[in-house]
Amino acid sequence: MNIQAFTVDDLHEIVDALSTAVDAKDPYTHGHSERVAHLAIAIARTMGMTREQQSILHIGAHLHDVGKIGVPDAVLCKPGRLTDEEYAAIKMHSMIGYNIVRKVRILHPVATIVRSHHERMDGRGYPDGLQGEEIPMEARIVAVADSYDAMTSQRLYKVCVSPAEAVNEVKRCAGTQFDADVVEAFNQLFASGALTIEQSA
Ligand SMILES: [Fe+2]
Ligand SMILES: [Fe+2]
Repeated sequence: MNIQAFTVDDLHEIVDALSTAVDAKDPYTHGHSERVAHLAIAIARTMGMTREQQSILHIGAHLHDVGKIGVPDAVLCKPGRLTDEEYAAIKMHSMIGYNIVRKVRILHPVATIVRSHHERMDGRGYPDGLQGEEIPMEARIVAVADSYDAMTSQRLYKVCVSPAEAVNEVKRCAGTQFDADVVEAFNQLFASGALTIEQSA
């Protein structure tokens, strides 16, 4: 192993290994991180983000739920309604993920995305209750891609909705939960047919 010749591709492989670890822990999210990363990048391109921003976003989207590794299985895989304590345990995953990723100094911007992917534009998200532009743009994009994928994929004990229904739900939450510009780009993707093709893949 030539550590001197460490490249961005090598970094990406490390990130991939971490996200595979969380997928292995939580089978129903299998492929979730991958799909979220794919959709997030498509949104970022539509919004004209720089290549550097896209790279950070790509890694952040891959790792967004890595903190689920620290959430007990009994809670993570529990069918039916969660108690307040169980919901609080699930919500810890964004801070746990932040604390994992921030150990790698060059991944600090990525750690911020992981931390903030459940923030909402109206300030009612977690863990920090950030509002609007206080939330990094990359995290606002992951929030939309994450919700869309959660709604459209089959999960244990949960019925999924059609892509069209999910898009309507995302649009309904523009300005409150989601950034309106991100929703606009996402909607453009859907209207152009790009989203349906990705979903059926
Ligand atoms: Fe999450
Ligand atoms: Fe997620």
